[in-house]
Amino acid sequence: MSNNLLKGKRGIISGALDSNSIAWKIAEKASAQGATFTLTNAPIAMRMGEIKKLAEQTKSEIIPADATNVEELTNLFSKSQEVLGGKIDFVLHSIGMSPNIRKNIPYAESNYDFYMKSIDVSALSLHKMLNVAMKMDAMNEWGSVVALSYIAAQRTYPFYGDMADAKAMLESIVRSFGYHYGKARKIRVNSVSQSPTKTTAGSGIKGFEDFFNYAQAVSPLGNASAEACAEYCITLFSDLTKMVTMQNLYHDGGYSTTGISMEVMEKFVSK
Ligand SMILES: NC(=O)c1ccc[n+]([C@@H]2O[C@H](COP(=O)([O-])OP(=O)(O)OC[C@H]3O[C@@H](n4cnc5c(N)ncnc54)[C@H](O)[C@@H]3O)[C@@H](O)[C@H]2O)c1
Repeated sequence: MSNNLLKGKRGIISGALDSNSIAWKIAEKASAQGATFTLTNAPIAMRMGEIKKLAEQTKSEIIPADATNVEELTNLFSKSQEVLGGKIDFVLHSIGMSPNIRKNIPYAESNYDFYMKSIDVSALSLHKMLNVAMKMDAMNEWGSVVALSYIAAQRTYPFYGDMADAKAMLESIVRSFGYHYGKARKIRVNSVSQSPTKTTAGSGIKGFEDFFNYAQAVSPLGNASAEACAEYCITLFSDLTKMVTMQNLYHDGGYSTTGISMEVMEKFVSK
């Protein structure tokens, strides 16, 4: 169903790798809601070719950019304005990667070059995007930037490794840059803290399946799906949430405020 919530809006959507990606669902919903946008991902992700299907489906152009590279981000914002015919109204940051997790290195033994890479790709890239957009004055007033996060930024999840630190930094950048960009151009910056979701990045985490089931048992509404996350992000890109900024917004079926659920308790009840 479309309410044309994003009619006439121009966007940049990062992070669609395959049809499981949260960004993929966001692109589909943004298109259905009347937005036009460019798609971007690291050049290496392009080789997989999947993103071309999404580009055809949503009539979007793909502009490759490594989100850690300021020059490539500058090209992204400049080409996107050219292609879309004006300033940008919304940006999705849906980027995360940890070489330490990929290589199964335990948190306490993190390789520091990898650690820096995790921070650069998963957190600093948001600062770089915002910095480039602000310098170029590439966004319309009341524009909206959304980054995807995870509750390991607030509470310890031992298997989430250095990504927890990267997400804590990401959420801090949301607040800090949100202040400056809000003052300068009335741009809103928020993060959405999403339930565990079966995607390439999600499933790369050790024990993901068991943890997914645990979170499902804790959350009164169950885990939020990628589709539901996409719908929430659409509201944040729309004019209906104009005064929401510098927030980390939980989209998790109630997980973050549930102490314990009956389903989990039952496993410990003495018979
Ligand atoms: N899947 C989950 O359980 C879950 C839960 C909460 C938050 N998130 C967050 O959602 C976001 C999207 O992840 P996803 O689960 O859809 O997985 P995904 O693997 O589909 O998306 C991650 C994306 O990051 C891109 N990327 C990696 N390095 C990059 C770089 N240098 N430059 C540009 N792009 C780069 C990848 O190509 C990929 O498209 C991430 O920030 C992730 O941490 C995921």
